[in-house]
Amino acid sequence: MKMFAKSLNNLMLSNTAKEKIQTLKTKYPSARSAVMPALYVAQEEFGWLPKEAIDAVAKELAMTPTEVGSVASFYTMYHLKPTGQHVIEFCTDLPCALAGADAAFERLCHKLGLEHGQETTGDNAITLRHAPCLGGCDKVPVLLVDNNAQYEAMTDEKLDALVSKLRAG
Ligand code: FES
Repeated sequence: MKMFAKSLNNLMLSNTAKEKIQTLKTKYPSARSAVMPALYVAQEEFGWLPKEAIDAVAKELAMTPTEVGSVASFYTMYHLKPTGQHVIEFCTDLPCALAGADAAFERLCHKLGLEHGQETTGDNAITLRHAPCLGGCDKVPVLLVDNNAQYEAMTDEKLDALVSKLRAG
């Protein structure tokens, strides 16, 4: 289970995270090429990517905060605001939409008790977001949990089982 975000009073990268980023830098021809895995390290550390995390990654990679922030804001797997313990990214691009993804997304919102525009459940357990194509267009609708587990051909029954599993931790 993902750790809770650090306190807002403690938004500094740990030495362990800095060492991980330094190691990542050695795996690429230039330090800046490590920006995406370095952002993952920072996101793991904070639970999301506050400005301080962007600044810290920029410093470690000798980049500007604007450069790092533009990468972080381009990709949906980086979280620029606090999330729940689990994040569901639900693809609603055209092939998934044609398979009923929009209606399934709305049913999932209802199931989670999310009001219009609300992304995270009141108990902070689950964040639900729209996502662009997740690369599984032959098994629609598709969603991704916590950036690492893809679920395909989602039915209402599968969504129920997934929500129960995530809520159980
Ligand atoms: S459109 Fe949904 S996975 Fe490609």
